[in-house]
Amino acid sequence: MFTFAHLSDPHLTTLDRISWTALLNKRIMGYISWKTHRRAEHRREVLDLLLGSLHQHSLDHIVITGDLTHLGLPQEFQEARLWLDSLGKIAETTVIPGNHEAYVSTSYESTLKQWEPYFQSDAPKESHRPGKARSHFPSLRIRGPVAFIGLSTACPTAPFLATGSLDVQQLEDLTGILRSLQSQTVFKVLLIHHPPLSHTVRWRKRLTNTDQLHEVLSRFPVDLILHGHSHKCALEFLSTRENRTPIIGVPSASAKGEKSGDESQYCLFHLKRQADAFQLSASLYSYVREKAQFMFSRTLPLP
Ligand SMILES: [Fe+2]
Repeated sequence: MFTFAHLSDPHLTTLDRISWTALLNKRIMGYISWKTHRRAEHRREVLDLLLGSLHQHSLDHIVITGDLTHLGLPQEFQEARLWLDSLGKIAETTVIPGNHEAYVSTSYESTLKQWEPYFQSDAPKESHRPGKARSHFPSLRIRGPVAFIGLSTACPTAPFLATGSLDVQQLEDLTGILRSLQSQTVFKVLLIHHPPLSHTVRWRKRLTNTDQLHEVLSRFPVDLILHGHSHKCALEFLSTRENRTPIIGVPSASAKGEKSGDESQYCLFHLKRQADAFQLSASLYSYVREKAQFMFSRTLPLP
């Protein structure tokens, strides 16, 4: 049995002490959004309760599908790194970036590099280019019977857009990784911040090149896709000629859900290996506002 948990979009950082000079770009809009409503919705006390609930399970791994920050400021990456270090062993947590981590164009060294131990691949990547954040992805981390494959859809966008994309190199490398895993009996979990089906979120928040990703996954299917970004719980399927891959999204890990109704949730997975086949179960745990605690919500109907 291998047990892992998925949470997403914790938006755990505070913008209380940032200087106005850091906001002289698209960030000013994000700051106003945080000040006027996001900071009331994304609450550290909810996230703390989620972690308390998580640690009641005997976990082998935790995956976090992006958006730990609000504006992708260097100091937010530092704050999030301290939080990541509080989760447990570094090797037992995998992170990918979300669009908020690439709110505007920044240097890799001052931002995402601070999380490197949480996404770097088990083996060095040939296509890695120093200083280029996206060249670290797809990451490949094999833990027990699971191959966690992390993508980065994070790229700076114009104001009012929160789209994501996969560059050609990542799609090529993803093809290579999935081809190489064909000969191994591993359960392939693809981690992506933006949902891989374009209808899951509004147009301005979509993954722009879903077709190219689907083309790769139709040739080299994965067993499970986990995403964030939508701040909603979703179970969908990616259907190709021979496969039907579950796609699971969870709401923001810190959401009170007072206005949206999408309170914080995380998903707990139990994977059993039986001969050459795997059996997966998925359970949702939800924040119950009235009780200020997380409780088992339901089991997701997986094939
Ligand atoms: Fe996002």
